[in-house]
Amino acid sequence: MINKCLFPAAGYGTRFLPATKAMPKEMLPIVNKPLIQYGVEEAMEAGCTGMAIVTGRGKRAIEDHFDISYELEHQINGTHKEQQLEGIRALMQNCSFSYTRQHEMKGLGHAIYTAQTLIGNEPFCVLLADDLCINRGGRGVLAQMVELYAKYQCCIVAIEEVALEEVHKYGVILGQEMAKGVYQVQNMVEKPKLEEAPSNLAVIGRYILTPDIFEVLKHTPPGKNNEIQITDALLQQAQDKLVLAYKFEGKRYDCGSVEGFIQATNDFYQLQR
Ligand code: G1P
Repeated sequence: MINKCLFPAAGYGTRFLPATKAMPKEMLPIVNKPLIQYGVEEAMEAGCTGMAIVTGRGKRAIEDHFDISYELEHQINGTHKEQQLEGIRALMQNCSFSYTRQHEMKGLGHAIYTAQTLIGNEPFCVLLADDLCINRGGRGVLAQMVELYAKYQCCIVAIEEVALEEVHKYGVILGQEMAKGVYQVQNMVEKPKLEEAPSNLAVIGRYILTPDIFEVLKHTPPGKNNEIQITDALLQQAQDKLVLAYKFEGKRYDCGSVEGFIQATNDFYQLQR
């Protein structure tokens, strides 16, 4: 249904310095797997095979991760350590990876616009790898959203309820609930102050976008923090068309923060034991 997943991965990861000084934040491991690999696995489960990654300076480790390392393969060939590469090998066989660079950090909307050349004229998923999501025993968040897309064929954002003191970190929506957990977006504000927040329904790093969003982004002026915001483009879209917000099943960890990262590490470690 949806073939491509876009991974904006050009950000500096300043909340995780000094670990992210020379290493992309998307390569931070939860137990023994980097965040971006969890993201690619979730996208694959949702039916995507084309992984489009927006990188920037200092992000080459991501490209190397999804490539063959001849020396390493040679070194561990025939040993029990080969097992540890099985997951990533399968993933490389089944997916294609394409990259483009965002030269300047001008916001998530700008990163998505930069990827137009990789996406073309088709609907696509967007996954922010530092939001790590799991749904134990059930389908992943993107797979849930693709199913919803099959019904409505419109832009969809994933949302969750957050504490009111947290709304300033997120895009926040106001919506009319039209089915259980499915809201028609009526308003959307990027990182509002508590008193300006339309609700406590926060957008998390999973989107399905239709390709007409590129034309909207092209004309979206810089918003919050002087950056081009996908939130503003989606609000524009919501004024003309249906845009949905979906309360997903599962749990999200904000792995761009130390607290979320530690929580995810502990939970995933327990799960693997
Ligand atoms: C971005 C979006 C924001 C969204 C968040 C989810 O913000 O701009 O609307 O709620 O991702 O993680 P960032 O966290 O990149 O500042």
